[in-house]
Amino acid sequence: MKLLVTGGAGFIGSAVVRLAVGRGHSVVNLDALTYAACLDNVASVADSPLYAFEHADIRDRAALDRIFAAHQPDAVMHLAAESHVDRSIDGPGDFISTNVTGTYELLEAARAYWDANGRPDSFRFHHISTDEVFGSLGATGQFTEETPYDPRSPYSASKAASDHLAQAWHHTYGLPVVLTNCSNNYGPFHFPEKLIPVIILNALAGKPLPIYGDGSNVRDWLYVEDHADALLLVLTRGAVGRSYNIGGENERSNLELVRTLCAILDDKRPKPQGSYADQITFVTDRPGHDARYAIDPARIRNELGWRPSVTVEEGLARTVDWYLANENWWRPLQERHGVGQRLGVRA
Ligand SMILES: NC(=O)c1ccc[n+]([C@@H]2O[C@H](COP(=O)([O-])OP(=O)(O)OC[C@H]3O[C@@H](n4cnc5c(N)ncnc54)[C@H](O)[C@@H]3O)[C@@H](O)[C@H]2O)c1
Repeated sequence: MKLLVTGGAGFIGSAVVRLAVGRGHSVVNLDALTYAACLDNVASVADSPLYAFEHADIRDRAALDRIFAAHQPDAVMHLAAESHVDRSIDGPGDFISTNVTGTYELLEAARAYWDANGRPDSFRFHHISTDEVFGSLGATGQFTEETPYDPRSPYSASKAASDHLAQAWHHTYGLPVVLTNCSNNYGPFHFPEKLIPVIILNALAGKPLPIYGDGSNVRDWLYVEDHADALLLVLTRGAVGRSYNIGGENERSNLELVRTLCAILDDKRPKPQGSYADQITFVTDRPGHDARYAIDPARIRNELGWRPSVTVEEGLARTVDWYLANENWWRPLQERHGVGQRLGVRA
């Protein structure tokens, strides 16, 4: 298949690009190269004859039309987005512009291309989204595909809007859309402003390990390469018009997660004295911080036979190993605008 992957220089998009090329798909990586992008993420496939890069913005309809015409993709995997909740609190405009308007432009460009090619049933527009669109859970329960949307941050509201657009383009125009909503990802190439890399890198630098509020917020963690595998499965075997929740069934409170990372680091890179956990510091909570997310992955498991390949303990250990071995990747990214600063504290 020839895939047009948007956001392929980001964290998850690059995992999709690497996996898809590794499985013999042709991939066109369309990315605007925002602060969150890094082309080193796809360096391992950049010389492959199966790989092409297009530096473009999904809000630029003329560029999208040119790219569809030039590459004639069989499917779109749409991952390009503004993705950091804290940045969405400080500056929601970019999130509305890219995640909502950009998705609209991409849907329209895909629809025009699909129409011009005789509306093939085999075409797919795969919209990649988050479990955050479902809002916040109490101590029990899980999000299913039928859970009503209840987004609560500018980020999740913009993603919810984009999900609705993708579904509407299927119902109204017949565009063959599939949709996935995934829990928190972690793993190699995770941009160093997100929780897990921040903890690993601050620990190694002897800096405080910031925990929002009391650390009781619960997230369901999935290794990024397992997410990429699930995405390719839904793209090729998912039912058109259907959505699939993807999760690792690995719920951890933020405090538990950070303590686990500290224990892994104590083992792999011991400090001269004490534990990395001694660096844990509680900081002002994020405004509107959702209490708990948990995914019920029964549909993708039962209908498509997908399961994650690693436990969260294995995945976190691999992730720590990767950061220990790849300082040349993460060190320059720490200089980018806003990285290492506390963002999103405005109420
Ligand atoms: N990170 C997670 O835990 C998670 C979980 C579930 C779903 N998602 C979704 O998966 C997708 C990818 O997330 P990520 O964590 O890899 O994000 P990321 O921030 O690491 O990467 C986003 C990529 O999109 C590109 N981009 C941003 N605006 C663009 C624009 N206007 N035009 C073209 N490219 C643009 C950036 O340059 C970057 O390469 C997003 O849609 C996100 O909502 C993320």
